[in-house]
Amino acid sequence: MLISGAVLLALVASAFGGKMSLSISENVILTNMMSLPKDESWLEGRAMLVAVGENTCKSVFSCADCNTARLCRPSADGSFVPLRDVKCPASAPFCNGATGTCGQQPDATCGQADNFVCLQDGHFPDVECHSYHVCEGLVSHKFDCVISGEVYDAEAKKCVPSDQCAKFTCGAQGTKAASDRFPGYFAYCDLDETGKVAPLVIDQCQGINTLNTTSQLCEPICQKEGVLEDTEDCTKYYKCHYLWVDETTKFMVRERMDCPANTAFLPSDYVCVNMDQYPECKAKKHL
Ligand SMILES: *[C@@H]1O[C@H](CO)[C@@H](O)[C@H](O)[C@H]1NC(C)=O
Repeated sequence: MLISGAVLLALVASAFGGKMSLSISENVILTNMMSLPKDESWLEGRAMLVAVGENTCKSVFSCADCNTARLCRPSADGSFVPLRDVKCPASAPFCNGATGTCGQQPDATCGQADNFVCLQDGHFPDVECHSYHVCEGLVSHKFDCVISGEVYDAEAKKCVPSDQCAKFTCGAQGTKAASDRFPGYFAYCDLDETGKVAPLVIDQCQGINTLNTTSQLCEPICQKEGVLEDTEDCTKYYKCHYLWVDETTKFMVRERMDCPANTAFLPSDYVCVNMDQYPECKAKKHL
């Protein structure tokens, strides 16, 4: 069948008619549902995958990012060096990582290297509040919130309308800095390539714990009297109890306690048990 250029353009225009972001998300759902991490913002067309996998210039035709093809030149040592970047046209907006050419199908392996370090699987905010990372099998996928006025909400794990941009403000080199809006998330601060102390690696406290920037530990918030797991050290636990100042005034206080020698705090039972009954802790403590 012969299709004239004008007809083809009209077809493409109708395929991408209406809201562009919605069309992209529909396409992504159809073609890549199995190969991409499940992510609400992205499924709703509020976020776009911008980087995943290794950096490119693997062959003459490569991708610079998910929407830009990159022409590379072979060098004497057999590697390839970037020559020119070509933005994919609206009619074929996605760069395919395998062929390095623009096409109509979004590609799960497209794009730049996401140099985000996955310390565990899950969703993590980027230091830049319009971006976030989804780690699956310790492979990071970087997403950008694409709707103007939306930023990433680390608690809701999606892009939401907000004028508050979450930040990690680093103190000294080698310390952890909590996110100012989502204190369950924190950054390891170290020197960046310009020699400035910066939030380099993002991690998350376990459970409902939050980073206490003074103690530099992920600590629980006492909601009632009792004992709580210490996610940083399995031979310790936290005890929450009220301190009565007088007959009507009380404060909740939290104490970090040590289990007796050769015992460990078993979170499922809320008691210190013999180390042999908690092999994971024994292994962690190299006993
Ligand atoms: C944070 O840690 C410091 C030092 O251990 C402690 O005195 C303080 O009570 C902790 N803050 C909270 C909110 O738990």
